[in-house]
Amino acid sequence: KWPERVKVKEVGPRDGLQNESRFIPTENKIKWIDQLSLAGFDYIEVTSFVSSKWIPQLADAPELAKGIARFPGVTYAALVPNQRGLEQAIESGIDEIAVFMSASETHNRKNINKSIADTFPVLSMVTREALSAGKTIRGYISTVFGCPYEGKVEIDHVIRVADKLFEMGIYELSLGDTIGVANPRQVESMLEVLLKRYPAERLALHYHDTRGAALANILVSMQMGITRFDSSVGGLGGCPYAPGASGNVAAEDMVYCLREMGIETGIDFDKLLTAARYIQEKLGRTLPSRNLQACPS
Ligand code: HMG
Ligand code: MG
Repeated sequence: KWPERVKVKEVGPRDGLQNESRFIPTENKIKWIDQLSLAGFDYIEVTSFVSSKWIPQLADAPELAKGIARFPGVTYAALVPNQRGLEQAIESGIDEIAVFMSASETHNRKNINKSIADTFPVLSMVTREALSAGKTIRGYISTVFGCPYEGKVEIDHVIRVADKLFEMGIYELSLGDTIGVANPRQVESMLEVLLKRYPAERLALHYHDTRGAALANILVSMQMGITRFDSSVGGLGGCPYAPGASGNVAAEDMVYCLREMGIETGIDFDKLLTAARYIQEKLGRTLPSRNLQACPS
């Protein structure tokens, strides 16, 4: 059984760009994000308020957040690791924040320089202050399906972090296949457990397409009742602190497939392709998206 409608959350301007070494001028990023708003996304993660030493590409977060056009009905979100990031995100007028940590100890340390145990109090403070500032909060867990440093990740580790994040007040949890190792059977068995504990409306899936299984994993997730998925235009991206990571499922590949299946996303495929071509041109190389290759102009 298939859903009638799926919510696609575009994370390309954050997850897609964070791994790009050549700095994309802020005005180009803004133009691209405006094209994404125009294409009909109602949720765009536009940047991160993280250390610019760790993620130089997103050092322009405040200017970018202030420069983008704010389309009515669109939520503009940003990644926040700590209190300093939260203050900047609020000051820059971000609608929603996303907090993030990993299910595996080593990736958590490599990505945010803290143990899992030491991350909880930091995020408790961030979420408390974000809620009192009237912001909604999304949570991410990385390495849910496998860790580049530790390999297999036990589901108990995912649940331990998920419970804490929900206690802190996140309204939705995005489960990250950070290095694109998940397979449809693993997705099925993972979701069988998680859906006994959390309602489907509270879960989103964040598949990186490193090994080409993202769309297959999305189809299985939909059959299990999940209707929220993260995407990245062009298939851009990856986590710089996860060796070998590549981009999320390309938004246009997911939207094309859903449209052909008669599943509504609210996204205009042609306008989406325009946005994908724009960022491809700015990056100056062919992006992984299949639909960009199928429709080069
Ligand atoms: P640290 O070095 O332990 O922290 O980094 P610190 O407090 O010692 O600060 C170091 C420097 O950064 C200081 O500057 C701070 O002021 C500055 P200095 O005094 O040396 O000049 N700083 C900041 N600057 C701007 N904004 C801030 C901020 N905080 C500190 N908010 C920290 C700890 C968390 C800051 C660092 O590790 C960091 O920024 N990590 C972010 C890494 C990241 O963004 N990774 C990618 C995103 S996660 C991902 O891709 C996975 C996901 O897509 C899901 C999936 O696929 O699995 C979400
Ligand atoms: Mg990611």
